[in-house]
Amino acid sequence: MTAPIRTAVFPVAGLGTRFLPVTKASPKEMLPIVDKPLIQYAVEEAVGAGMTQMVFITGRNKRAIEDHFDKAPELEAELEARSRVSLLEAVRNMVPKNVSCIYVRQPEALGLGHAVLCARPVVGHEPFAVILADDLIDGSPSTLQQMVDVYSEHKRSVLAVQRIPKEDSSKYGVIRADAISDRLYSLSGIVEKPKPADAPSDLAVVGRYILTPALFNYLERIGKGTGGEIQLTDGIADLLKAEQVLAWAFEGTRYDCGSKLGYLMANVDFALRHPEVSQEFAAFLRGHASTAV
Ligand code: UTP
Repeated sequence: MTAPIRTAVFPVAGLGTRFLPVTKASPKEMLPIVDKPLIQYAVEEAVGAGMTQMVFITGRNKRAIEDHFDKAPELEAELEARSRVSLLEAVRNMVPKNVSCIYVRQPEALGLGHAVLCARPVVGHEPFAVILADDLIDGSPSTLQQMVDVYSEHKRSVLAVQRIPKEDSSKYGVIRADAISDRLYSLSGIVEKPKPADAPSDLAVVGRYILTPALFNYLERIGKGTGGEIQLTDGIADLLKAEQVLAWAFEGTRYDCGSKLGYLMANVDFALRHPEVSQEFAAFLRGHASTAV
């Protein structure tokens, strides 16, 4: 049986201004959570959900992402010579053999909608996933797997959503929707970064999408929206006039690793579970808790 969704698109061409200066010369998506970069967690989630074509939408200063998923002959030879078997495996098998990585350049950071549109020549006429690597979501099954299951049943675009305090609505795309079941909603509207008073609900879109290829027709027509950027949200609002769009309130813990606080929280939680450092790190935190203000 062929997988329902083959292609995962990773827009990684943003400027990452909230993490300057570290993002001046290296991509935000290469920030590590303990010992793995954010982009690797995202790729592993897509591969785990059955996807075999990884499409990275890159910009300037993103070479490190290409290098990360490429072969590193000198490093591999050195690790082999030193018999560092497990490290060798870790750097050699970044993606399984049946998975391909494709890089598309977004010439200018014109917005997330524009970045997704850059994937059109590779995606073609199939449904596809979009993953924002700075939204790290921990859970089993993964959020993307949950969404693939929803797509398999309904054959509609699916957006991952989570409930937020209304005062945070100006940081997100917010949906208006009717509940179909416990976690599944049918959209009737979507707005980018509304003021709390204008937010149509407390359901905010986070960085996982499954989208039908019809979206491209709308993305190519929309102009600049909120913040002067070509917004994915505006493309989805137009798609909604033509076909049903679903939202899935995922089960899992999300870390907003595009913000310093979310990034630090993710590192603490993942370190407390990391086999190499968990015990000593927990002891350090206990000691720290008694002295911290
Ligand atoms: P963000 O809104 O988080 O922007 O983009 P950013 O530039 O990455 O970070 P800040 O806000 O300046 O700190 C959401 C996602 O869309 C991608 C980003 O790489 C990120 O994954 N993106 C954004 C693009 O690929 N191209 C764009 O033109 C804009």
